[in-house]
Amino acid sequence: MISWDDFNEDEKPTAKASPASAGAAQAAPVAAAAPAPAVVSAAAPAAEPPVRGLEAPAAIVDAAIQRVNSEARVAEEGSAHERAAAALAQLDAAAGLEELEMGAGRIQVDDKRMINCRADLNQLVPFKYDWAWQKYLDGCANHWMPQEVNMSKDVSMWKSGDGQLTADERLIVMRSLGFFSTADSLVANNLVLALYRHITNPECRQYLLRQAFEEAIHTHAYQYCIQSLGIDEGEVFNMYREVPSVARKAAWGLKYTQSLSDPTFKTGTPEADQRLLRNLIAFYCVLEGTFFYCGFTQILSMGRRNKMTGVAEQFQYILRDESMHVNFGIDVINQIKIENPHLWTKAFQLEATQMILEGTQLEVEYARDTMPRGVLGMNAAMMEEYLQFIANRRLVQLGLPEQFPGVKNPFPWMSEIMDLRKEKNFFETRVTEYQTGGALAW
Ligand SMILES: [Fe+2]
Ligand SMILES: [Fe+2]
Repeated sequence: MISWDDFNEDEKPTAKASPASAGAAQAAPVAAAAPAPAVVSAAAPAAEPPVRGLEAPAAIVDAAIQRVNSEARVAEEGSAHERAAAALAQLDAAAGLEELEMGAGRIQVDDKRMINCRADLNQLVPFKYDWAWQKYLDGCANHWMPQEVNMSKDVSMWKSGDGQLTADERLIVMRSLGFFSTADSLVANNLVLALYRHITNPECRQYLLRQAFEEAIHTHAYQYCIQSLGIDEGEVFNMYREVPSVARKAAWGLKYTQSLSDPTFKTGTPEADQRLLRNLIAFYCVLEGTFFYCGFTQILSMGRRNKMTGVAEQFQYILRDESMHVNFGIDVINQIKIENPHLWTKAFQLEATQMILEGTQLEVEYARDTMPRGVLGMNAAMMEEYLQFIANRRLVQLGLPEQFPGVKNPFPWMSEIMDLRKEKNFFETRVTEYQTGGALAW
């Protein structure tokens, strides 16, 4: 039976002799047939026993013999300095550049494209999409870390048994941490494993890298809340698999990551480019642009009522980041539409509309599950109207017709919290400048 321990053990450097290695080689018929044993015995002092006793699998013995042989060869070919100099003498500076249509030449703004660009992606300037670079700068200016938020009032409120929090309020905190702790990981995974390589523009990639770090900070923030409050981590981190209203949202998003994360997937055909657009709509308009809104509203409403203000402050900063992520994603989608109008067919527009409606419905289900009764001055019916208001906004941002005519925003204070121009702490839990020092005017 091979276990990871065997492989780890095999990798450890050692200067000891390796009787077990030689013994294992003798015990394995495959190894005995190879020409290696002579070298093995000569070079054996450099090797580590790869396995325990005589039960070594042939594959491990083979690997050990190959390593010993290559060490023996290296020893014959001169010093490390000589090998490094020889390798650099062979270095081909043009390798990899032949894939670029413009070779290694300086690029012009017009060479740049959001997708399917074959100009050099390592040349950040000249900028074509100034808005992407500006969002990157804004994201950096709004940098924050979870440990900066004081959680002491939350800890005493969460642990006190004197009814400061109702059972319904506790359910909201648990469900929010359960959903978001995983959702931000799903978003981060989608960015780095599926989306990044298909966005062929360096200023947008710069923002994607910033966004990926912000998603890590968000996951950190949830973990920080969970740890501070002493909540069962296993329960929270498994909610995306175990609680239906949470699981359905996660499953809905995951299928769009799976669609792109196939290593053989390439953009460049209308079908493939539409697959990429679906991923962008799913993650920016639905996951970040819809699925986050019920939980955010609930937690921020709690903060407005002076309950769990540390958790609410964390969510306030996360919401500001998220609203910028959504705006960035929508700008990317609209730019792809401008550069590739053939993708934005009537059928595809209907599909995009349906995706937004599916997301809205799943979020309404989540609202009903998390608010079986009225709580914190809101209820599931009000949340449903708010989500319809959000859905209309997403549709209009994509240039699609509203699907819920006449709905109003029942929570106008949410827009105030999202407004990045405000630099004060909404809950006034501390005096703070939200922007980092480097971005403040002197
Ligand atoms: Fe996030
Ligand atoms: Fe995000």
